[in-house]
Amino acid sequence: MGTEARIGQLREMKDAALHAGTQRAVARQHEAGKLTARERIDALLDQGSFNEIDQFVKHQSSGFGIEDKKPPGDAVVTGHGTIDGRPVFVFAEDFTVFGGSLGKVVADKICKILDLAIETGAPVIGLKDSGGARIQEGVSSLDGYGRIFERNVRASGVIPQISVIMGPCAGGAVYSPALTDFVFQVDQTSHMFITGPDVIKAVTGEEVTMEDLGGAGAHSSKSGVTHFVYPSGQDALEAVRYLLSFLPRNNMELPPYYAPADRSDRADDDLDSIIPDESNQPYDIKTVLESVLDSDEFFEVHEQFAKNIVVGFGRLDGHAVGVVANQPAVLAGTLDIAASEKAARFVRFCDAFNIPILTFVDVPGFLPGVDQEHGGIIRHGAKLLYAYCEATVPRISVITRKAYGGAYLVMNARGIRADLVFAWPSAEIAVMGAPGAVNIIHRRELAQADDIEGRREELIADYEDRFNNPYVAAELGLVDEIIEPRETRVKLIRAMEMLRTKRETLPPKKHGNGPQ
Ligand code: HXC
Repeated sequence: MGTEARIGQLREMKDAALHAGTQRAVARQHEAGKLTARERIDALLDQGSFNEIDQFVKHQSSGFGIEDKKPPGDAVVTGHGTIDGRPVFVFAEDFTVFGGSLGKVVADKICKILDLAIETGAPVIGLKDSGGARIQEGVSSLDGYGRIFERNVRASGVIPQISVIMGPCAGGAVYSPALTDFVFQVDQTSHMFITGPDVIKAVTGEEVTMEDLGGAGAHSSKSGVTHFVYPSGQDALEAVRYLLSFLPRNNMELPPYYAPADRSDRADDDLDSIIPDESNQPYDIKTVLESVLDSDEFFEVHEQFAKNIVVGFGRLDGHAVGVVANQPAVLAGTLDIAASEKAARFVRFCDAFNIPILTFVDVPGFLPGVDQEHGGIIRHGAKLLYAYCEATVPRISVITRKAYGGAYLVMNARGIRADLVFAWPSAEIAVMGAPGAVNIIHRRELAQADDIEGRREELIADYEDRFNNPYVAAELGLVDEIIEPRETRVKLIRAMEMLRTKRETLPPKKHGNGPQ
């Protein structure tokens, strides 16, 4: 065969690989409101940047009726390309081929991509749409999952790993996304569960739909498995692109800088009146975040889960920051199990990937309750404490109002090595709130008082005068500067600039043994 004929043959083979799924399967995929694997990759990457790897791989299994069906590339499309000009690796499970099920060569292809991503230090994005372990290939497909899980863990903290659930993801297969940094789900068309509705009904008698069990709503608000939900695949992939704009390629690099459209000296008078006069009145901390960060640059993570704490990425004068903020508008901003876990994982991600952490504190304490205690608030709260203590990236806190007791410390206090702590004049920093404190330290006096309530009020007022302010902490150097709310943005920009060259290392160890 001459060279031209060979080139012609290659083109035909490549064309066949592009249409590995039958027309019927592609039509079913579209009818289900889903994009195909290749359409998804096109939507995700910069136009024309995709380079496919292993396009001609075929499974080698025999028996069970699949020996005659050997679609090129099998049930996953893998390769590399760019997003905003920056390299990424991608694998997209192809539901139009064997239902996207994972056999040996599918696992081989995904492992090759993960190995390359780790070796070259580039993010990896997995687009998930699969019937799970390929039944016909038995234990070798289970082994394939094992090889993927091990690489997910090896890559953790080295390169950002993102999973986008765009169809079924069931059984042990869910553990690959669970090991990655961020999970996206497409509303209504994606489902994740360890055991499906039929098995649950058989074992426990509970009746539940796929959607209620493992849909985007359930995992974004109840289980906390999913960080982001979007109404369509296209929207989810667009959001992945935006998320990557805050992240470095790997743990050895800094996040990218984008010239800000916002002024670094912008003050906001509205912030001076955001804290209500009554200290038990709520306000929305997101208003503060939107005012302080570069305009339109706050990307909330885990928005529907543990709403009493807000986490997400933003930019300050063009530089990425990770934000953790108590939300006084939900559960008075208390820390509970879910909030502690949510914030801890986020802090660890930021620290692993050189993203400075900005913490806004308005926390009355941990959420009281038997459920919380027996659910393990002690060890779950400790996760957040551990995550902050371990973080060596620049860490700045702004105490807007309450900072009480243990929660004061957990929320990046000076004692756990915050680099800078700012407080607004409305800050209240104390071991506990005034009524509780007065009842304890003046118990005997109150018991003997003629007018118990009158005396209690006097003592509370006296305690509030003395402790419900940031000045005691400032006298001790535990607050570095008391600032007017309006000047928060400019102060934070200057502080982050000063800390940009921060270098800190922890003592050598194999790894810590933080609470789980
Ligand atoms: C082989 C599979 C498959 C699988 C689907 N297919 N799942 N082939 N192994 N696991 C094939 C179907 O036979 C069908 O082939 C095509 O993919 C499309 O599937 P449909 O069933 O027609 O699609 P749909 O009606 O949309 O239903 C999708 C589905 C269902 C809900 C995912 O296929 C299903 O329940 N599959 C099995 C799911 C499962 O139990 N997997 C094992 C999970 S445990 P044809 O030729 O007819 O088009 C697991 C363990 C991992 O994954 C362990 C890791 C440690």
